[in-house]
Amino acid sequence: MSDQTIEHQVQTLNAELETRLQEIKTADDVNNIRVAYLGRKGKIADLFKVMATLSPEHRRDAGQAVNMFKAKVQSAIDQKKASLSDQDRSNQFFDISLPGHRGLLGHHHPLTLVLREIKSCFSRMGFTIAQGPEVELDYYNFEALNIPKIHPSRDMQDTFYISDDIVLRTHTSPVQVRTMENQSPPVRIIAPGRCFRRDTPDATHSPMFQQVEGLYVDEGVTFADLKGVILTFARTMFGSDMKIRFRPGFFPFTEPSAEYDFSCVMCRGKGCRICKGTGWIEISGAGMVNPKVFEYVNYDPEKYTGYAFGMGVERIAMLIYQIHDIRLFYENDIRFLNQF
Ligand code: PHE
Repeated sequence: MSDQTIEHQVQTLNAELETRLQEIKTADDVNNIRVAYLGRKGKIADLFKVMATLSPEHRRDAGQAVNMFKAKVQSAIDQKKASLSDQDRSNQFFDISLPGHRGLLGHHHPLTLVLREIKSCFSRMGFTIAQGPEVELDYYNFEALNIPKIHPSRDMQDTFYISDDIVLRTHTSPVQVRTMENQSPPVRIIAPGRCFRRDTPDATHSPMFQQVEGLYVDEGVTFADLKGVILTFARTMFGSDMKIRFRPGFFPFTEPSAEYDFSCVMCRGKGCRICKGTGWIEISGAGMVNPKVFEYVNYDPEKYTGYAFGMGVERIAMLIYQIHDIRLFYENDIRFLNQF
């Protein structure tokens, strides 16, 4: 076979290719051409085989012709592919009447839900909402609440100190003082907010937690008013059969002071594992505002009396949802949070 023949063959193949390119309709057609010409057993491979039998001087010219043809086939195939995928895109059918994809909706954290209920309950009893800073002066967190620096009752709360006289508030009680400084009686507020204590996290302790403080000061406010408000709160949150009880307690900023309990929300007072058989669940502290605190805010202790109470939001939420580990609230595990 002569080199003339190879060039001839290239011409024939070229003409044939032109026709086949015209007839291309699909990506499959393109692929068939690729296999037929460029494939391992394709037409160009055949030409190379023939070329190997040629004399060296003929081989050079023939090789040039075959290589040029090969490049041409390759670029024709690339072009066809590109124009097919352009067509493909413009042919895509877009149905504007299809409903859109709905994004996943988030929802409120269990503590937010519970806090809302607490707020709504107290606002119906005439309480407004007060706030104070989480990074608090020692003065408001301790001093003006009748807890002087060298007083042993400071040990009740393990404090994060920012400096000698700035702390992360250990309770929401400083908001009592801030509110009374800015407002004359009657004062009826709740103060929800974050608090911080140097506690190692376990099932019932978290170094960051939330409290709701309550304060009511006016002429003639008594301990009976305090009991009425706590009882209403207990029954609103947990049902009308709830009972409450007050036990003697101690807080430097209230006198007398009490710890208050709700009847167990699980066994309704009969005694179970949750209430350790007592029928009661401890909630928090409360009492009548200590006249010493009134002195710090220039309220006349002869004229006004008031009560204050605290409560832990996590604790209430754990009772409502029967959650046994406070850490779950702050781990942001979506499997836990999705349930509320
Ligand atoms: N501040 C107290 C605590 O964190 C609770 C409390 C509030 C007690 C108001 C009495 C009055 O434990």
